[in-house]
Amino acid sequence: MTSKKRFALIAGARPNFMKIAPIIKAMERYPEMEVCLIHTGQHYDKNLSDVFFQELGIRKPDIALGVGSGSHAKQTAEVMVAIESLLVEAQQHQRPFTAVIVVGDVNSTMAAALAATKLHIPVVHVEAGLRSRDRSMPEEINRLVTDSISDLLLCSEPAGVENLLDEGHSRENVHLVGNVMIDTLLSEVARAKEQKTLQEFGLEPGKYGVVTLHRPGNVDQKETLEAILQVLSKVSKHLPIVFPVHPRTRSRIDQFGLQNILGASTGCRIAEPLGYLDCLCLTSQAKVVVTDSGGLQEESTALGVPCLTLRPNTERPITCSEGTGTLIGNSAELLDSKLQEVLSDRYKVGSCPQLWDGQAALRIVDVLAKRYLSTGARSA
Ligand code: UD1
Repeated sequence: MTSKKRFALIAGARPNFMKIAPIIKAMERYPEMEVCLIHTGQHYDKNLSDVFFQELGIRKPDIALGVGSGSHAKQTAEVMVAIESLLVEAQQHQRPFTAVIVVGDVNSTMAAALAATKLHIPVVHVEAGLRSRDRSMPEEINRLVTDSISDLLLCSEPAGVENLLDEGHSRENVHLVGNVMIDTLLSEVARAKEQKTLQEFGLEPGKYGVVTLHRPGNVDQKETLEAILQVLSKVSKHLPIVFPVHPRTRSRIDQFGLQNILGASTGCRIAEPLGYLDCLCLTSQAKVVVTDSGGLQEESTALGVPCLTLRPNTERPITCSEGTGTLIGNSAELLDSKLQEVLSDRYKVGSCPQLWDGQAALRIVDVLAKRYLSTGARSA
């Protein structure tokens, strides 16, 4: 009988949860694999964490580190210390991990990868190789560091593969597996559309926009945030918008005294952060998505919904070259003119990229099996 190989799977923040759900399911197909699910606690609010576990049927984490919020250094350091201690303990109890799997680009991703690699435990990075080339984004630093120390690099789009090969990674460690977040989207979209979310917000299918905003580059400066809110307020006069507000953005709006800009607009529905199904119910039936979220750029592309991306660059170029995205930067004029294109049905929507087909987790786990199991991969 083969002994089980133990994998630590790390999740910390909201965008991680929809990526780990299908990976856990796919790993269950291999009785030789044991998954230890570790929640760092970077996100801890019910709306940013628990609701995703409930709705996506993710089992309770085996270990919850409860790290919480803090400066980047503090949060990263606390995750590193906590993960190091549990990895060392596992080694001491003769239950070592075969590899540590990290997803995405949040602080927890980089911290876990650093702790593991320094203990000579292989690191597998899912969603590797994405580059915005904008080092002012904390996520770009997390991506660069994580990829530079990962042993297996699993990419969601061809640009990821190209970037990693350009950076000198060996071809045998880099695999194009597709977009695992879209696995979750495709399996949940029918159920999401059955939610009563549109009725609750008083919206009709195809006749509203969804807005999300949380990047420091957009929300941390009063002038930038104010200009974006002004355009949204203007838009909401023609097209109702629903705006689930991230805690960081909420606190900046309060701090800068900008509550009245959207508060005064009858077309604007301000909400708390939404659970996965409510959010997908809204985005899948929206006329347009206006966002600075990497995840929503990809989800809009998979759903065929126009996405106006409030960023000067994107690490997910396929959402613009093939998908439904357009980079707007923080130009109020461009946002306004693109919204007019959408409203008059002149906006071009592209197509869904290859391998964003609901099977990415199976491909990921096949790569893991080939690398780490003596029995090799089982065909999907
Ligand atoms: C993090 C990720 C970002 C991801 C985003 C999704 C990093 C560097 N950034 O950004 O890539 O797109 O999550 O939401 O990892 N807070 C709460 N409740 C929580 C968590 C946070 O109120 O459960 C507040 C705290 O005041 C905290 C602030 O939000 O300081 C920022 O949280 P943090 O996890 O540091 O970064 P995000 O902006 O959420």
